[in-house]
Amino acid sequence: MNTTSRRRFLVGSMAAAGGTIAISACAPRPAAPGIPGFSHGVASGDPHPDSVVIWTRLDPVGRSAPTTVTWQVTADERGDAVVTQGVATTGGDRDWTINVVADGLRPSSTYWYRFTDDAGNRSPVGRTRTAPVGGVDRLRFAVASCSNYAFGNFHAYGHMAARDDLDAWIHLGDYIYEYANPGSGETYGEYRLLDPPTEIRSLADYRRRYAHYRSDPDLQELHRRSPMIHVWDDHEFADDPFVGGASNHQAEDGNWTLRVAAALQAYSEWMPTRLDGNRIFRTLRYGDLATIVGVDRQRRFLWPEADDGDLYLGREQFAWLDGQLGSVTSDWTVLMQQTTFGATSPNRRSGGWGERDRGRVLTSLGASGSDLLVLTGDIHRFHAIDVLSDPNGYDRSTGRGVAAVEFAAGSVTSPGSNGSDFGPQVRWTSGDQRGYAVIDLTPERSQCDFFGFPDPEKLLARRPAERWLGGFTSRRGAPGLVQAGTPAIR
Ligand SMILES: [Fe+2]
Repeated sequence: MNTTSRRRFLVGSMAAAGGTIAISACAPRPAAPGIPGFSHGVASGDPHPDSVVIWTRLDPVGRSAPTTVTWQVTADERGDAVVTQGVATTGGDRDWTINVVADGLRPSSTYWYRFTDDAGNRSPVGRTRTAPVGGVDRLRFAVASCSNYAFGNFHAYGHMAARDDLDAWIHLGDYIYEYANPGSGETYGEYRLLDPPTEIRSLADYRRRYAHYRSDPDLQELHRRSPMIHVWDDHEFADDPFVGGASNHQAEDGNWTLRVAAALQAYSEWMPTRLDGNRIFRTLRYGDLATIVGVDRQRRFLWPEADDGDLYLGREQFAWLDGQLGSVTSDWTVLMQQTTFGATSPNRRSGGWGERDRGRVLTSLGASGSDLLVLTGDIHRFHAIDVLSDPNGYDRSTGRGVAAVEFAAGSVTSPGSNGSDFGPQVRWTSGDQRGYAVIDLTPERSQCDFFGFPDPEKLLARRPAERWLGGFTSRRGAPGLVQAGTPAIR
């Protein structure tokens, strides 16, 4: 999409969402309290039973030489019961960020962590939680996607941060957007000012955009309170990549390969994620109850292999996924992926997977006996879908013909529309509310609850109350959505 048509798209999306038409910049919310030396806070992510990634950033003002930072993980919030500690070095070559895998931890345990810089400044104290092993009674994950800073305050993150019942929070991509500030004269509604104000293209730009996001108090608090599990989508790089470029990459934007490398480097510096080079597809195990498998739909565009063909995930990643799914031993398999998985109507392909590649996933998982729960971002809409193995034999009242269940987590701020032309397998959808989802897993059933507030409320300076928008359960061993009467409670 070129700049002009992208603007038109934004206008259309906003209009569809019932947005206001006058353009004006929101008064900025107060900045995060900011602890001297650590104004971007702390974060943790990718929990294993014995380790977790912990993250912070030193304020670079007045610094030039590489600096050592000490880190500590403790069993108590005060910091008396030290479990493990170490020293890390950072500098300008990695934008003064620190990403440490803290290991030697116990499964299914809550820990606190902190950093101290060379001047004795102490970071905020973060809280994190390791994954369990063996038998597990219950797990709960919040799920979010599509957080366009310009479009509103991160109230959904604020509500997620206030929860005390999460094992981790999952983000399905579009954690940042690469766009410029909407210019005057555009029909865009109210917005928050971005830094940098221009579209991000260089390493310095991507770093500044991550730093700007992490100055948001709601996002910073969410990172501080709970570990994150993330897969990127397109906007962590540029809108809508294809092999050799992207819709939002024009000749004047410079070299595409260098832009991808810059975006990846800034990502690796700023996100608490276990990256293996450019591989973000990975598996996280939560004992006998859940296996979380994250996949990367942009991989075949960003780093194409010679023989990827038209497979949705590319040849190498799909072979890896087959192996992961075939060896699952947990009750539930949670597929972390970016866009619509199941077909939404008899006349329409799914958002990207298509029948062949969706069938391959179901077949690969089939022998394991695990139940598939698919998580979806990207579409800026909530939905709950019965994923069908037999569309002709589908009976929503009994679950006949259902192979898996799928939940789209709405968006944190990005505007959406309600859509149309849905078949009966789309049990519920809403595009005019922003928010997040919570999945609650037990050996007997899964439940997904949707929480949110009407789209215009995302621009309120004060956080709007969240509402339970509804929920669906699916029984273990008998996939098929059943509307829930109340939200799941731990
Ligand atoms: Fe998005």
